[in-house]
Amino acid sequence: MSAVAALWSTSIGKKAVMAVTGIALVGFVILHMAGNLKIYLGPEHFDAYARGLRALGEPILVHGQALWSMRLILLAAVVLHVVAAVQLTQASWAARPVAYTEKEAVAADYAARTMRWGGVIVLLFIVYHLLHFTVGVVGYAPGQFQEASVYRNVVNGFRVWYVSAFYVVAQAALGLHLYHGVWSMFQTLGMNARGNGFYRGLAVVAAVLVVVGNVSIPLAVLGGLVN
Ligand code: HEM
Repeated sequence: MSAVAALWSTSIGKKAVMAVTGIALVGFVILHMAGNLKIYLGPEHFDAYARGLRALGEPILVHGQALWSMRLILLAAVVLHVVAAVQLTQASWAARPVAYTEKEAVAADYAARTMRWGGVIVLLFIVYHLLHFTVGVVGYAPGQFQEASVYRNVVNGFRVWYVSAFYVVAQAALGLHLYHGVWSMFQTLGMNARGNGFYRGLAVVAAVLVVVGNVSIPLAVLGGLVN
């Protein structure tokens, strides 16, 4: 068995895979949120940013190559993260057919359950989000979605109040998932030199930044600040 397969076959190996893919996903979510805030600079800046993402690395790379490479890495990270989570969950259910009665065990179990449900909500959100803002097949009147007008698509998309409400709820689920995920990642990778409070603080900062930054956008559209 290769070293990678041997690592994958253990639960600590799967947790390490979750931590490493989690770092890539948190990095993407923070950068994506920062990019999303360019919407406050107006349509020219926001659409130029979207075009810039496709032109990244030119002329050394061909048009779209860097973006597609990033998409493939992101997809691989999501698949590995989810498969490891499902297998760890199955192993934990198989090992514990009868519920715990101890208080701490119940608390740990609650966090794990929240992560599982939160993860499912975040995954459903990502599928909806791609169909909404990238493909444009949900949430728009016929002909309203224009691939090149990313700013207009976001404004038209968030003008539908229940779509905005869904985004806000999904960001809350993402925030909780990030908070617990970032915290567990430090534990799995054995990074506890600075004491628990420091790493919890980092987890809170990452989660709050992402939630506040992202939630501000549908609210700004509904409030007429971005139009
Ligand atoms: C209110 C918050 C958000 C806004 C306004 C937003 C906006 C957008 C827009 C406009 C696009 C299409 C970009 C383009 O076509 O150039 C996009 C793509 C994407 N978003 Fe978001 N997003 C938000 C939150 C999120 C979150 C929380 C995640 C992940 C958990 C996420 C993951 C993605 C992914 C994976 C893509 C596809 C990137 C690509 O392949 O080009 N987004 N987002």
